[in-house]
Amino acid sequence: MTNNRDSALEIKKEEFKSIGYQLIDRIAGFLDTLDEKPVTPGEVPQILQKILGNSPFPDNGSPVQDIISNATELLMNHSLLNGHPKFMGYITSSPAPIGMLADLLAASVNPNVGAHILSPMATEIEKQTVQWLAEFIGVSPDYGGILVSGGNMANFTAFLAARTAKAPKNIKEEGLTSASKKLMIYCSKTTHTWVEKAAILFGHGSKSTRWIPTGTTNKMDNDLLEKAIKKDLKDGHQPFMVVGTAGDVSTGVVDNLNGIASICKTYDLWFHIDGAYGIPAAIVPELNQLFQGIKEADSLALDPHKWLYSPLEAGCTLVKNPKHLTDTYSSHPEYYNFSKNDHGPALNYYEYGLQNSRGFRALKVWMALRQVGRNGYLEMIREDIGLSQLFFQLATDHAELEAVTQSLSITTLRYVPSGYGDKSEGNEKYLNTLNEALLDNLQLGGKAFLSNAIVNHKYCLRACIVNFRTSKKDVEEIIEIIVTEGKGMHQKLRTK
Ligand SMILES: Cc1ncc(COP(=O)(O)O)c(C=O)c1O
Repeated sequence: MTNNRDSALEIKKEEFKSIGYQLIDRIAGFLDTLDEKPVTPGEVPQILQKILGNSPFPDNGSPVQDIISNATELLMNHSLLNGHPKFMGYITSSPAPIGMLADLLAASVNPNVGAHILSPMATEIEKQTVQWLAEFIGVSPDYGGILVSGGNMANFTAFLAARTAKAPKNIKEEGLTSASKKLMIYCSKTTHTWVEKAAILFGHGSKSTRWIPTGTTNKMDNDLLEKAIKKDLKDGHQPFMVVGTAGDVSTGVVDNLNGIASICKTYDLWFHIDGAYGIPAAIVPELNQLFQGIKEADSLALDPHKWLYSPLEAGCTLVKNPKHLTDTYSSHPEYYNFSKNDHGPALNYYEYGLQNSRGFRALKVWMALRQVGRNGYLEMIREDIGLSQLFFQLATDHAELEAVTQSLSITTLRYVPSGYGDKSEGNEKYLNTLNEALLDNLQLGGKAFLSNAIVNHKYCLRACIVNFRTSKKDVEEIIEIIVTEGKGMHQKLRTK
């Protein structure tokens, strides 16, 4: 670089290379030995604060080498490792190594993917990523969309597009209070909390959401859905959107999407699918039937940082007619010079979503899609589902475990000590206390990381495998860990 300004933040080429290579060496070693470390050190905030220290904001800087060594040590030794093969909590995947490199590259070039002129190639790559994601799940490649930070944002982005499409046109100027009818949203009672957040934050109020009960299979009861819509119409409200879930957060159940699509057609409602977790499983031919109806969706949310193994953050909103996104989000302030183009209108992603300046999160998704292609993803997702089924089977076969549910790659189960299986009220209450204490213990213990689900009033342990590093051996070992820890916790509670 011929620039001779000596800025405090600049790192000279040779130093950048030497520190960068060392960092890559550390990361390679870290990834290679993930399975030898505890999943989490389980340190409480007070310990972490002590390790971090409480020095005030420094007046002067420090050598880059020291800062990077210190940050590496802090993070590698004091973090929960969701790349660990025995991490199965919530829905966070093992991050694909190519995504780590992609984030470094994206930050190096630093395109602002809000406008085409600021990110010419990055915008084209994001457009291709969106098209490939549509092809991945099996909807038309003509769906348009945008990469966002995760599932909540992907659903919010679609929610607002649905409202623009279905609400009275003057709400843009007059606001929601001008609508003479209350705008109503419908979803199953198992839908992720984003719906409530959207209804509250976007001014509808939580009472505008109808939480439709589920049937015996835990899918939204579509008869009750239709009844609720009819009743609201009779009461003078305006239904505008139905949310179907493709893989519910607790148990992985996929709603009857075809049925919802047909109700939406009958009543002219926006059909949105929250597929943040489960929709990548639509790639598996054996599961075709389960995902019937996704082609009818007006919008879908999916989350590459869940079952496409992308490092955080990466979500995606897909919309059948992308004009609904620009109708919702586009604005043309006089200080933007982004629309002129001799070759047709420019694709400016600030017009597709809530963000203005945007990072290049599409790169890590695009690179992983290229690295393994359709067949690579098919194999990994199929294996995750197979491991989850094995988990359920091993729990079924074990005298001290109760296998509760299995769907997609989520298994729920609970520890039931011998003599506590008779389902009496007292036993059920005790089993809930026992399994909750067991989960707390497991989550801090570092041997394996699971989360919880409440299924039919039962407090369950929940294992969600969106982890390309998990093997049969890990599942077998986790079963033994649960039983050993469960026994210990039972003894502890009984002697209290
Ligand atoms: C079905 C579903 N929707 C939405 C979300 C929210 O996703 P995120 O945490 O990426 O915002 C989740 C998270 O687990 C989910 O499972």
